[in-house]
Amino acid sequence: MPGHSSDNLSGHRPIPHHVAIIMDGNGRWAGQRNLPRIAGHEAGTENIRRVTIRAAELGVRYLTLWAFSTENWRRPADEVEGILRILGETLPTETEELNRHGARLHHIGTLEGLSAPLVAGIKHAMELTQDNTAITLTLAFNYGGRDEIVRAVRRMLADGIDPDGVDEALIDRYLYTAGMPDPDLIIRTSGEMRTSNFMLWQSAFAEYHFTTKFWPEFSPDDLEAAVEDYQTRERRFGGLVSSEASEPKRR
Ligand code: IPE
Ligand code: IPE
Ligand code: MG
Repeated sequence: MPGHSSDNLSGHRPIPHHVAIIMDGNGRWAGQRNLPRIAGHEAGTENIRRVTIRAAELGVRYLTLWAFSTENWRRPADEVEGILRILGETLPTETEELNRHGARLHHIGTLEGLSAPLVAGIKHAMELTQDNTAITLTLAFNYGGRDEIVRAVRRMLADGIDPDGVDEALIDRYLYTAGMPDPDLIIRTSGEMRTSNFMLWQSAFAEYHFTTKFWPEFSPDDLEAAVEDYQTRERRFGGLVSSEASEPKRR
């Protein structure tokens, strides 16, 4: 954003390298306004671009947004269909827009169960933006932490991995997030204080920030406030030194 100043975030305090957001509260946001739940999903999707742009401006290198969980299939069919339709409709225009801002798009989760056009749209977005460097925006869609681990174990067994060869770095490489840093900061909107099966392995040393704002009303300034909250935390990674230098390096 031209002219935007983030002076309050400058100085020696670290900007989280990877921020992940559990974008919750679309339905309640709509309910408060006497709108159908699907209008909340539309408003929530609309909100992605401005938050992503601010994240890039703040110096966040990876932003991961959870949009649909493997458990969300349990919802009524019309809501699930609506969410899938919104993603399919929004992806082409948002991909263009985010591409203009230099964002690299990535997806984690399974493409199984998604329609062929949607899968093609996701793949196109990743290919089009693969050389961009402003920020990596990862959409966690049809993502569940336990599902991710089950699929990783299956692939390890199928690859004939020797049990003695299994270590933390190997597991990292079999997860959807292979090659990505672990999240430093996980934000959940809407007042719920649970992970609901998000990044179970990767969140081991993440800092959490909870806000009662519903996702459609979570603003770029709210993101900045969450980063400021993060900057007050003392991360120790099991050690005694309050420094990122003590972070266990698994990759
Ligand atoms: C988050 O908003 C989006 C999805 C989980 C798909 P919700 O749809 O969960 O909204 P609430 O929690 O019911 O308000
Ligand atoms: C988690 O929210 C999933 C996403 C935000 C995409 P849910 O609304 O599905 O989680 P629960 O059901 O409240 O645990
Ligand atoms: Mg919810």
